[in-house]
Amino acid sequence: MENFRFHVTTDIRFGKNRLDELPEALGAFGKRVLLVYGGGSIKKNGLYDEVTSRLKEASFEVFDLSGVEPNPRVETVQRGIDSCRENKVEVILAVGGGSTIDCSKAIAAGFYSEKTPWDLVLERKGYKGPALPIITILTLAATGSEMNAGAVISNMHTNQKLGMGGPSMLPKVSFLDPENTFTVPKIQTAAGSADILSHLFENYFDLTPGTDVQDGIAEGLMKSVIKNCPIALQTPDDYDARANLMWASSLALNGLTGSGKNGAWSCHAMEHELSAFYDITHGIGLAILTPRWMLHVLNEETAPKFARFANEVWGITETVPELAARMAIQKTYDFFQSCGIPMTLPEVGITDDSKFEEMAKQAVAHSVISTKAFVPLHEEDVVAIYQASM
Ligand code: NZQ
Ligand code: ZN
Repeated sequence: MENFRFHVTTDIRFGKNRLDELPEALGAFGKRVLLVYGGGSIKKNGLYDEVTSRLKEASFEVFDLSGVEPNPRVETVQRGIDSCRENKVEVILAVGGGSTIDCSKAIAAGFYSEKTPWDLVLERKGYKGPALPIITILTLAATGSEMNAGAVISNMHTNQKLGMGGPSMLPKVSFLDPENTFTVPKIQTAAGSADILSHLFENYFDLTPGTDVQDGIAEGLMKSVIKNCPIALQTPDDYDARANLMWASSLALNGLTGSGKNGAWSCHAMEHELSAFYDITHGIGLAILTPRWMLHVLNEETAPKFARFANEVWGITETVPELAARMAIQKTYDFFQSCGIPMTLPEVGITDDSKFEEMAKQAVAHSVISTKAFVPLHEEDVVAIYQASM
């Protein structure tokens, strides 16, 4: 196991009917609030009214930033920064999924910076400056953004979707009420679950020796997602299914399963290019790529880890590692398909391979997959994985 620091200070308020705690949580940082949200789901399900009426009662001044896109755009970050400066905002309240929270994080950092928001994104994970305090009310179990310091922002003019982050961007408080996810559509429930699984896979399939704690936690979380996603799809208001997905979302990407490891994430680097060029849903792209990536990297050296995955997560008893591995990869594919995820690129509108080489070039350039991944991936590997996904 490698050395690491684990310092995740987000105050998690998990469970139903916790919003009476919101004024106290926000009030610790100020009375002038930027309320950030997406395309309107929180207006349809009543959460917007609930939040704003509580804030009004408690005399907060609230400024709305609506319309954050799935795959949030750098232009929206700029709109948020302008509003914060103009309205002397003291604290940001993000109500939504990963896109809303990520956009809020970039606004929070951009507020203090003289650089353009895109120049800040280009600093990637190295942001060391201050940020406005962020409080989140999560409405979709997926990214883990509610309990980590990262954000992913898109620039559709340059076809770039890049991760950025720094310690000051970690949410101060996150309200995790599973009931707020009852209205998440089936396809987003499935995509979010695929994203959670992918975060676990990306950390798990790694060559760092001696990480039993991280891997055991990851296997437990994977099993929870595999059990509860189908229940949530069948019965969207099943509280415990939604609760398990929500908590798995936070724990999959708050450092718990990735700390002490030394690898690079492969499928995320490849997926971010799909979204950057074709604006597809992150979790769907991951579900399509993951089984193809697994098959591509299966070899004598990696088979034992896949065999462990087969045994611990899927209950496969086959003892020949490569056979067990292939069975587990098929199970993973079948699981995503059974959740209703379209499992080929043409089904999400990517019908020709003309951009694959350019995308592969960027995937390699924007990450360390060619040097530090479970199995190093070069441009030709990435193209092959995209091709296998057609
Ligand atoms: O925009 P609204 O109207 O709110 O609708 C959203 C959106 O259309 C809808 N939705 C969310 N909660 C809902 C709901 N609809 C009904 N009821 C609810 N309760 O779901 C759609 C998707 O929302 P979005 O926020 O885009 O989804 P997600 O949470 O999956 O976030 C995806 C973004 O996060 C990035 C992804 O790349 C992508 O840009 N990621 C962020 C990470 C991080 N910060 O740590 C890590 C991830 O790997 C990921 O890259
Ligand atoms: Zn992800």
